[in-house]
Amino acid sequence: MAALQMNISCLIFLQVLLLLLSLFAQTNAQGLKVGFYDNTCPKAEGIVKKSVLDAIKKDRTIGAPLLRMFFHDCFVRGCEGSVLLELKNKKDEKNAPPNLSLRGFEIIDNVKEAVEKECPGVVSCSDVLALVARDAVVALNGPSWGVETGRRDGRVTNINEARANLPSPFDNITSLITQFRSKGLDKKDLVVLSGPDSYVARVWVTKLYAAEATCGGNEERGGAEAGLIGVNGLRSKADRRRDGVKRKAQPHCTSWFLNWASDQMWNPTDTGRHLGSRGGHTVGNGHCPLITNRLYNFTGKGDSDPNLDTEYAANLRGRCKPTDTTTALEMDPGSFKTFDESYFKLVSQRRGFFQSDAALLDNQETKSYVLKQTKSYGSTFFKDFGVSMVKMGRIGVLTGRAGEVRKKCRMVN
Ligand code: HEM
Repeated sequence: MAALQMNISCLIFLQVLLLLLSLFAQTNAQGLKVGFYDNTCPKAEGIVKKSVLDAIKKDRTIGAPLLRMFFHDCFVRGCEGSVLLELKNKKDEKNAPPNLSLRGFEIIDNVKEAVEKECPGVVSCSDVLALVARDAVVALNGPSWGVETGRRDGRVTNINEARANLPSPFDNITSLITQFRSKGLDKKDLVVLSGPDSYVARVWVTKLYAAEATCGGNEERGGAEAGLIGVNGLRSKADRRRDGVKRKAQPHCTSWFLNWASDQMWNPTDTGRHLGSRGGHTVGNGHCPLITNRLYNFTGKGDSDPNLDTEYAANLRGRCKPTDTTTALEMDPGSFKTFDESYFKLVSQRRGFFQSDAALLDNQETKSYVLKQTKSYGSTFFKDFGVSMVKMGRIGVLTGRAGEVRKKCRMVN
């Protein structure tokens, strides 16, 4: 009897132990955790944040590429900093075509240097990338989230892996879903992560509505909008025609608006810079060769992509000639009306910049997310974005004793 009781107690003890172990495993998914450096380098996160803020204050356009860099790191070999490595023969990820337009490597170097000064050999380059991406989004008035850290750096970089693993702007929805699934990300992550620009757009809407009050606009959105018309070029004639409201430039609004814009570190007469300063795909920069197929002879009959709004296509044709290989366009129709209504709104209006943006309407689940965010002005987008970024940050990480903590991000130790 005593032996039986002993066996039952042992069983219960084992079950509790297993339960505790499984709970422990869940809270430490792959060895990452929020606050990994709390004891070993407590100032690390603050140093990163300050460096990113300083960099974005100097050049607001740098925020978007810093976010994109983390995505390009995670999709090739996992989030282990391989996108930063350089090889003498140039066969590294950096030199793969999709990465040639990445920017901001010197900022990562500066951040890493500052962190190394505080705690040498402790904070990995891959964690620096993850923290920088979050802080860049926050600096652009986007959402914040707890960044899991504890990644270690890889020692390998390969140009062909970058070619093979980064989604292309010409991809259709099936291919995008498959590529995201192969990284452990689902359709929701795909659509959420594709729309990182809209957080900024949403903040702008709020600010512009507030501006209306300050400027004493006499119509809906009149004040701020008249300010915009005053500085010209941000709201196309077509859009003004479409919403049927004639507004005149109001000098006092214009000067108010210019002051406000300068407070925002934005030169409003420089639309390229401004639009380039936001993340994601209706904004940020996209180069002509990535869309000329959509504008000219899409099906071989001299037509444009039927999934592209005709007015927007005409607008883009005016700025992107068929042989243009250098011009970088803002991934946005350049109109006030669409400007204030986020990536999802643009996609739903068939104004997604790339085929891969338009493709989000070709799947029931991604389409319904686009429409839901459009209707609700991005009600859950901020929260969803943080959740998906954390998920993306777990792809193929090296933890524990794997990999190394690089001293300099461009080379292995
Ligand atoms: C869904 C698959 C995706 C495709 C096919 C794609 C493709 C592209 C392309 C072709 C560009 C323009 C490059 C240029 O011409 O300079 C771009 C820009 C950008 N992408 Fe993506 N992307 C995808 C997903 C993402 C994700 C998941 C993020 C981040 C969460 C992201 C963030 C950005 C940002 C911020 C820019 C603007 C960069 C700048 O202004 O320099 N993209 N993307």
